[in-house]
Amino acid sequence: MLEVSGLKKGFGSGSNRLEVLKGVDLSLRKGELVALMGPSGCGKSTLLNIIGGLLRADQGSIKIESKPPMAYGTKAPNQVIDVRRKGVGWIFQDFHLLNHISSVENVILSLELAGVEAREAETRAKSAMERVELADRMNFMPNELSGGQQQRVAVARAIAGSRPLLLADEPTGNLDVKAGESIISLFKELCADPNDPISVLMVTHDPILASKADRMLLMRDGKTAASDIRSAWGETTGDAE
Ligand SMILES: Nc1ncnc2c1ncn2[C@@H]1O[C@H](COP(=O)(O)OP(=O)(O)OP(=O)(O)O)[C@@H](O)[C@H]1O
Ligand SMILES: [Mg+2]
Repeated sequence: MLEVSGLKKGFGSGSNRLEVLKGVDLSLRKGELVALMGPSGCGKSTLLNIIGGLLRADQGSIKIESKPPMAYGTKAPNQVIDVRRKGVGWIFQDFHLLNHISSVENVILSLELAGVEAREAETRAKSAMERVELADRMNFMPNELSGGQQQRVAVARAIAGSRPLLLADEPTGNLDVKAGESIISLFKELCADPNDPISVLMVTHDPILASKADRMLLMRDGKTAASDIRSAWGETTGDAE
């Protein structure tokens, strides 16, 4: 459902030029949870930002199978509004919830910002909160929830718009082991949902969590390649940084 080919991106110019992505190829099937690993500064967030339509690539193409299909890559962010509104949902390390409105209102607000009418937004937000098993916490303020629960609200917000692809940049970075594992299980459930399967591309520094994904990819030298648990361990304990 996601096809990335020949993606290149560099920053700066002249002697300050830094080539970060040097021809990234990757694809995700519907319902797949893929973990992306690699040393700090290798370009994982840059890749996610381009797939998420926040940054343009210098070269290459991205396709998302959706209705209608989306094709971009080198288009400027203001030309890929649909990618951000309907294509991808985001999960960040530090939840990014608004603390002065309730958890369900966080989900409603993001739907409304994406153009969903108020009553429809409320219905969809409530059902998303049920899918992440927070039906009994809808009216809690974010700071009345545990870290794991706050991340679940962020997941509800990301899936509420029926976006086919979830981009998660170190989603468990601020969680303890148990809460982190429960977020991964939630991703897996959402991927396996026969009614509305999503796909997840997740950056993580934790090889154990990565090994729970369907597949692991390792980014090095500006490209991604299939990885197994052993090289993933090597990458985080070796001299890569
Ligand atoms: N807007 C920018 N301008 C200049 N350089 C940038 C910019 N964004 C990222 N970079 C550089 O690109 C490289 C890749 O950064 P990126 O944030 O993608 O790494 P990362 O793999 O996500 O690292 P981490 O694991 O630490 O989050 C870094 O060297 C960074 O300094
Ligand atoms: Mg990063």
